[in-house]
Amino acid sequence: MHMHKFEKIWLTFGIGTLLVFLTTVGVGAFYMGTQPASCLVTIDPEKVRETAPFDNPGLRHIEGNKYELNIVTSAFAFTPNQIQIPKGAEVVINVTTTDVVHGFQVAGTNINMMVHPGYINTYTQKFDKTGEYLILCNEYCGAGHHLMSAKIEVVE
Ligand code: CUA
Repeated sequence: MHMHKFEKIWLTFGIGTLLVFLTTVGVGAFYMGTQPASCLVTIDPEKVRETAPFDNPGLRHIEGNKYELNIVTSAFAFTPNQIQIPKGAEVVINVTTTDVVHGFQVAGTNINMMVHPGYINTYTQKFDKTGEYLILCNEYCGAGHHLMSAKIEVVE
């Protein structure tokens, strides 16, 4: 089939543009294992419950007002699901999952993470106000998704 010269030019231009686009997307997404910043620490999702600190999840006092909160998500629960935090505590929250993708959102705060199997998400939050905070899973994770919730209580 005879192709008009301009058709050829435009076809080449089109394919070229497509390649540049795909390369940009591909490199951007995978270059040096780029992941969301909170997703850099890895863990074997099948061994979460045997791996520290998730073998003993919950709140742990580090020093002064510094605490660490380790939470395991799984279909369809947060472990632990009732957490008491002293007012004024600065808490490093680590979250991982034993199975599928879950969400970790704490209503009324900026905490909102997408928890991927194989990764540990970390977020530091200072709790200055007493009260109850609802933890929700905001990623659809299966039939019991809507049942997944937990509670943080900030106490004097
Ligand atoms: Cu876990 Cu939705």
